[in-house]
Amino acid sequence: MEIEELRKSMKDILSDSRYRHSVGVEDVCCDLALIHGEDVLKASIAGILHDCAKYLTSEEQIAECERYRINISDIERKLPQMLLHAKLGVVYAKERYGIMDENILNAIEYHTTGRPAMSKLEKIVYIADYIEPNRRMIPNIDYCREIAYQDLDKAIKIITKQILEYLFNKDNMIDPLTKETYDYYVNM
Ligand SMILES: [Fe+2]
Ligand SMILES: [Fe+2]
Repeated sequence: MEIEELRKSMKDILSDSRYRHSVGVEDVCCDLALIHGEDVLKASIAGILHDCAKYLTSEEQIAECERYRINISDIERKLPQMLLHAKLGVVYAKERYGIMDENILNAIEYHTTGRPAMSKLEKIVYIADYIEPNRRMIPNIDYCREIAYQDLDKAIKIITKQILEYLFNKDNMIDPLTKETYDYYVNM
């Protein structure tokens, strides 16, 4: 599918605000790809599709994961809306949009939690999801943006630290992979 068609599909299935977010993520992915030397088209595809399963309700996401025999961890079952859309997004990207590039699929899968030793494309999507222009209420957002354009690893360290603090302060559960991501990038 051409990138224009992917955008149109996202516009059709996502809410207006989530579509705007997705376009914002796509734009920032392209910027970061240009600056940091990644394939711009791959960054664009991963950016526009990263939330392609997020229009489903929590119940629908669990049902879809069971239908596709995707393993659901305890924390994913408790926070499906936050976590499962990434795994399900990989299945949809393949089945509905014909994406077979492993790097793009991994960037979609790990955009919420990150993971240790991410590829450049994975880092770009993870960061872009956090700093895209429609995100306004995030502490230190200007600083996060400034660093993202200079140093991807440092940006991941700062962003993941803020995510962990936010989840901790809200008494939310934390996916162990987010903690592993932080530990990896803080010790680089
Ligand atoms: Fe997401
Ligand atoms: Fe997102």
